[in-house]
Amino acid sequence: MRFYLAPMEGVTGYIYRNVYHKYFHNIDCYYTPFLAPNKNHGFSSREKNDVKPEHNKGMRVVPQILTSQAEYFIRTAKDMEQLGYDEVNLNLGCPSATVVTKRKGAGLLADHAYLEHFLEDIFREVNISISLKTRIGMESPEEFDDLLDLYNQFPVKELIVHPRVREDYYNNTPNWDAFGKAVEAGKHKLCYNGDLFTVDDYKKFCAAFPQIDAVMLGRGILRNPGIVDEMKGNAPAGKKTLKLFHDEILEAYTEAFSGDRPVLFKMKELWVHMLPLLDPEEGYTKKIRKAEKISEYKRIVAPLFE
Ligand SMILES: Cc1cc2nc3c(=O)[nH]c(=O)nc-3n(C[C@H](O)[C@H](O)[C@H](O)COP(=O)(O)O)c2cc1C
Repeated sequence: MRFYLAPMEGVTGYIYRNVYHKYFHNIDCYYTPFLAPNKNHGFSSREKNDVKPEHNKGMRVVPQILTSQAEYFIRTAKDMEQLGYDEVNLNLGCPSATVVTKRKGAGLLADHAYLEHFLEDIFREVNISISLKTRIGMESPEEFDDLLDLYNQFPVKELIVHPRVREDYYNNTPNWDAFGKAVEAGKHKLCYNGDLFTVDDYKKFCAAFPQIDAVMLGRGILRNPGIVDEMKGNAPAGKKTLKLFHDEILEAYTEAFSGDRPVLFKMKELWVHMLPLLDPEEGYTKKIRKAEKISEYKRIVAPLFE
């Protein structure tokens, strides 16, 4: 099985990826949180830093692009090619209202004729490989049949399917019947994404889809950074490793940002996911949320790793 780390805006940027890779070293491909090109051509400093080759050494990284304009996608893909990347990924899944109303992310799934033109343009103009990360529709899983027919017309490097519709956001359970359609009718290499949180979830998935050899994990890894090792049959991550992992992320954020606030903002977001693993009784949620200084934060979290 190949394991991919999902793109997660605000979380799985280059700092998280590098530290994760150092301690766990079990991911075959990392997808960057989306780059959102605009008419002014420039990238934000967050985006520039995220795709800099020196920030992504020794691991396979695929930049993800979120846009409704084929022209911007093509330009960004060419920029990524210049930086040495051999693949870019198109975001066809972001459910947020501000994104979807601009026809980006899952919004691109609403109008199949528009999407077809978009795909024609990008597959004609881009020289490096293009993979797609898609939901199964905007409102109804029935939309997925047409989408699969559409994707089958293009030389998609890999189709990553998160089998929810946009209306689900992250609610309900992934629709494995719809994923089954991709297994039967899809022509491309397939990767499954969605709600693989535990070894048990992973085993059930493998039993249901023995022919699939790639899975992408997002929240499962944030919750338990050692989960991929466990899925591979290895021991769970010990508290010592988790502490080193945590401390190095904290240190890297402290170097990258000025002032305690942005660093703590990032760390608090991580703890939203990681706390159930280290603090099943939820005694720390409020304490961590209230920390205003890094020194205070360090004191608060220290006992969690003991
Ligand atoms: C905080 C957050 C940020 C996300 N950012 C992105 C993103 O930038 N691009 C993308 O394609 N999906 C994004 N996603 C969706 C994830 O990549 C993934 O598809 C989703 O979380 C389902 O996988 P999981 O159940 O393994 O977490 C994001 C999800 C979350 C919770």
